[in-house]
Amino acid sequence: MINKEQLVRAAIQARQSSYAPYSGFAVGAALLLQNGIVICGCNIENASYGLTICAERTAIFKAISEGKRDFVALAVAAGENTPTSPCGACRQVISEFFPKGAPIYYANVKGEFIETTVSSLLPGAFSREDLK
Ligand code: THU
Repeated sequence: MINKEQLVRAAIQARQSSYAPYSGFAVGAALLLQNGIVICGCNIENASYGLTICAERTAIFKAISEGKRDFVALAVAAGENTPTSPCGACRQVISEFFPKGAPIYYANVKGEFIETTVSSLLPGAFSREDLK
């Protein structure tokens, strides 16, 4: 099974596919499944700026659309020095699909990373339970 350093490396690698001509800020994500498969994603921007999708959501939506839901961990990578933490929208999507205690690693491009959990990123997240 891949370790956390390798997952972070995969996220850094995924930045190479980033399409970010407007911000110039390349982000990569790597999502680990229970069976050891890693699904990667990158940010994809648009001339209509609001249509941009973040790297984390690209990876998550790729996995879901392929019928893969057993999510174990997620790494996100961007930034020269400060590890880039997931944006608010991505935190909500992460909390929809990952176990609350799942590890999330956010890294800079040097591979230095911070480890946290889904519930620490978005305590009290709105969820399907709130719809009942
Ligand atoms: N971005 C991500 O891919 N993930 C985040 O969690 C933060 C922001 C992207 C969106 C946009 O393409 C660029 O970073 C600058 O905001």
